[in-house]
Amino acid sequence: MPRLETLAIHAGRGIDPASGAVAPSPVLSTTFARGADGAYPHGHIYARASHPGRDALERCLAALEQGAAACAFPSGSAASMAVFQALDPGDHVLAPDDMYHGTRTQLRELLQRWGLQHGSVDTTDLDAVRAALQPQTRLVWLETPSNPLLKVSDIAAIAELAHAAGALCAVDNTFATPVLQQPLDLGADLAMHSTTKYLGGHSDLLGGAVITRQEDAFFARVRAFQVQAGAVPAPFDCWLLQRSIATLPYRVRAQAANAQRLAEFLAAHECVAAVHYPGLPTHPGHALAARQMRGAGAMLSFRLREGRERALAVAARVQLFTRATSLGGVESLIEHRASVEGPYTTTPDDLLRVSVGLEHCDDLIEDLRQALV
Ligand SMILES: Cc1ncc(COP(=O)(O)O)c(C=O)c1O
Repeated sequence: MPRLETLAIHAGRGIDPASGAVAPSPVLSTTFARGADGAYPHGHIYARASHPGRDALERCLAALEQGAAACAFPSGSAASMAVFQALDPGDHVLAPDDMYHGTRTQLRELLQRWGLQHGSVDTTDLDAVRAALQPQTRLVWLETPSNPLLKVSDIAAIAELAHAAGALCAVDNTFATPVLQQPLDLGADLAMHSTTKYLGGHSDLLGGAVITRQEDAFFARVRAFQVQAGAVPAPFDCWLLQRSIATLPYRVRAQAANAQRLAEFLAAHECVAAVHYPGLPTHPGHALAARQMRGAGAMLSFRLREGRERALAVAARVQLFTRATSLGGVESLIEHRASVEGPYTTTPDDLLRVSVGLEHCDDLIEDLRQALV
């Protein structure tokens, strides 16, 4: 089996047999010609059902996560939504107490009305997870490391608990990426991504993905919500995403190395009350992250000793970091997270979340040093 760096470049890609082109081009056609016998000799009928660029991207995503198949979506939110919609009314979803607020909003505001029940639990506590499972639990949703507190949950142990309870286990692997963590290999059934983030990597496309360990009836329903409900990414976005994935391993590792240094700098700073970064030995999930990840990632968050006003002041003073939401791009971003998460936020309001980019780390540290005075 080729290694990840090789898969990121070659999986789903090849020389174009018609032209000999080495670099793939997006095929923008929405419809595909039938033969005189009525068959579809190239395997595509209509671009919502399938098109060459999405097929190539999905083969690449499946290979990166060591899955059997993948579905590409127009956003991470469309991807999580398809997984939830593949469940039945009356089913129960167990979700983490710290997770991307938009995913929680889907469960709370969109899916409850459709009869899907959900509960939340601290997924870093296995006893709490065991106790929170219900007879109707059909899906345990994990996000590890979590957004924005970087909590680390034990994928292998929770997948086992989920399976014993007759539930699937899905992992939002957006923060870690397949470079640093492979949930399917650890026993999860589904890996999900907002490909808007590291896989896209340049803050210029929206996308999502669900990758499955096996092509089963549940995944067929996820696929149906992609194709029949029309949650499909455009050919140009598929092409752009696959172009970015080629450099994913190198971007992620370099960004994670920057994040480690930045976290160490922040942890030693007198104005900082806490740093949430699994690469620090003081992080409660450090040992687990070292076991189930191949690096602690490039996201971190930190809290200021003097509270919300201080956090806002630091965010206001940075020069190199951009004050913006989202993450995973080559440019470093900083965000006062509680103020974008809406009325149900549980994020401390003295917390800043940082997406560490590919700039020189000394420049990033200097910028934070001058902002923290
Ligand atoms: C961990 C995580 N999952 C899912 C999403 C949703 O992805 P998208 O914005 O592509 O819909 C986000 C977005 O920030 C995220 O951070």
